[in-house]
Amino acid sequence: MKVIICKDYEEMSKKAAETIIAVVKKNPSAVLGLATGSTPIGTYSEMIRDHKENGTSYKGVKTVNLDEYVGLDINSDQSYVYFMRHNLFYGLDIDLANTHIENGKAEDKEAECRKYDELLKTLVQDVQVLGIGSNGHIAFNEPFTPFDSTTHVVDLTENTIKDNSRLFKSIDEVPRQAFTMGLKNIMDAKKILILANGKNKAKAVYGLVKGEVTTEVPASILQKHPDCTLICDEEAAALIK
Ligand code: PGA
Repeated sequence: MKVIICKDYEEMSKKAAETIIAVVKKNPSAVLGLATGSTPIGTYSEMIRDHKENGTSYKGVKTVNLDEYVGLDINSDQSYVYFMRHNLFYGLDIDLANTHIENGKAEDKEAECRKYDELLKTLVQDVQVLGIGSNGHIAFNEPFTPFDSTTHVVDLTENTIKDNSRLFKSIDEVPRQAFTMGLKNIMDAKKILILANGKNKAKAVYGLVKGEVTTEVPASILQKHPDCTLICDEEAAALIK
């Protein structure tokens, strides 16, 4: 795994955006695997700035997102489809029809998972952006998720519900389930970019880079990916230096 340690969040975001923009410039019909959460917001702002200032076009780009809360859709401002539109897509010239995410309101959840797996076979991520949870999860693949997992529905752990509650009015409003790409879907990406900032991620980053490859730390599987880069700030890198 390649590791790039930046002085702060801003530098991390710029470096991550540069990598994604380079993929789009090389292949204007690239497939971008995208993530939600606080971590990539700065990266997405940089992409929007570059689009406006330098004209990088996303007209032919397609996107696939990692996950979505069960029960939420674009009508909820807590849904991930809402997050993606407001933090990235509305700032670019991307066709919304080319942006994909699991349907949080799907009645048949199992059918929705299989449908998303089929989609991912045709839209293989040229680059997959990831954040990391404080417990080492990637997407909503919590500890002990099998490495060969594909798209599935998860019961969120108390740890993740607590972490995510800061974005909701109260912890009771955080959905208890989510759709998520599995670890195999993530490992199938041609290139992976995992981002981490802040001291509460230091332990997870240690597990990601230097720990044993174990389902206890889902992100540790990325050590086996042939083209994975971690871009993090000094605080998140505290235990790997
Ligand atoms: P965060 O979430 O970017 O909001 O810290 C990352 C994650 O839980 O995967």
